[in-house]
Amino acid sequence: EKGGYDHFMLKEIFEQPTTIADSLRGRLVLNESKIILSGIDIIQEKLLNARRIIIVACGTSWHAGLVAEYVIEELCRINVEVEYASEFRYRNPIITDEDVIIAISQSGETADTLVALERAKEQGATIFGIVNVVGSSIARISHAGCYTHAGPEIGVASTKAYTAQLAVLMLLALKVAKMKGTISEERFVELSQELNSVPEKVEWVLKNEVDNIKAIAYKYKDAHDVLYLGRGYNFPTALEGALKLKEISYIHAEGYPAAEMKHGPIALVDDTLPVVFVATKDVYHEKVISNMQEIKARKGKVIAVVSEGDEITHSIADDIMTVPVLDEVLAPILTVVPLQLLSYYIGVYRGLDVDKPRNLAKSVTVE
Ligand code: F6R
Repeated sequence: EKGGYDHFMLKEIFEQPTTIADSLRGRLVLNESKIILSGIDIIQEKLLNARRIIIVACGTSWHAGLVAEYVIEELCRINVEVEYASEFRYRNPIITDEDVIIAISQSGETADTLVALERAKEQGATIFGIVNVVGSSIARISHAGCYTHAGPEIGVASTKAYTAQLAVLMLLALKVAKMKGTISEERFVELSQELNSVPEKVEWVLKNEVDNIKAIAYKYKDAHDVLYLGRGYNFPTALEGALKLKEISYIHAEGYPAAEMKHGPIALVDDTLPVVFVATKDVYHEKVISNMQEIKARKGKVIAVVSEGDEITHSIADDIMTVPVLDEVLAPILTVVPLQLLSYYIGVYRGLDVDKPRNLAKSVTVE
């Protein structure tokens, strides 16, 4: 049942080239330069006139929402807010029939998300569900939606569901941008081709980086705290990397926007603190490098996720995890993969039950 892998988590990490491709198949139509998402067609009018999009989710799915905020605002020029479902449901948010809510959930049964949607629906909002489990409660309460095709996720820590959510959110952003005319045809084609290349780039990481990541995991397995930093599109990846490490290894970890470090967390840095930078080539790259130098100056250990061929970062960081070059907008689908592997191997080296971390349930159906 684990297909020869030691754990479901590892199997699910390795399934990602397939599950991402499954989530794109029949939707990303390269030769016609279009994206087919019938759920979007259903709510097309609402989306075109939306005052804003509110993304509602929990945990890892909330991190996917955060990536979507950056991407949708950039490509579609629609105001996006990302809400923790548990907060959204209890405060008294201002919702009208001009709001489109995107709900993101692997299980489709998360109680906080479900109740938040019920409330918003009562107030006239349009609900679009991005859900993995077919026929689940969140899928049923949505006006329209788009399934992720990740297949059953057994490991408690979400991996392949997350990258499938990101793949679908990228499709959604591209489609809406084209509908609204906020993207040039050239950029649409370029990003479509890049999105199509993601499965093989994830495959590259799984083929070429595992031994290296195992060695890094072994080196840092006894850390007490780990800081994860990123900027822009890769800031949510820092949050997700930290969450994965907490869940799987029980090591305290924090994700931060790299530039926020000097407003507090830099006080933590000494020669025992590993700091993971998500530092692929993008418009923020030089800034990220200077943040890295600030950590090195305080003797912190820098572990960096970098783009293939980036010699400069290589020379600064103590340890390097490499990913193929990919457009910055899409980078989060790829950069999370080495971080999933890092958490997995650290958990394994610490002798923990990575498929069923203590105190956690796969589907949180109570508040
Ligand atoms: C983290 C994790 C949780 C879930 C969260 C939402 O690895 O699995 O943080 O992402 O409980 O669950 P869904 O997506 O099922 O609504």
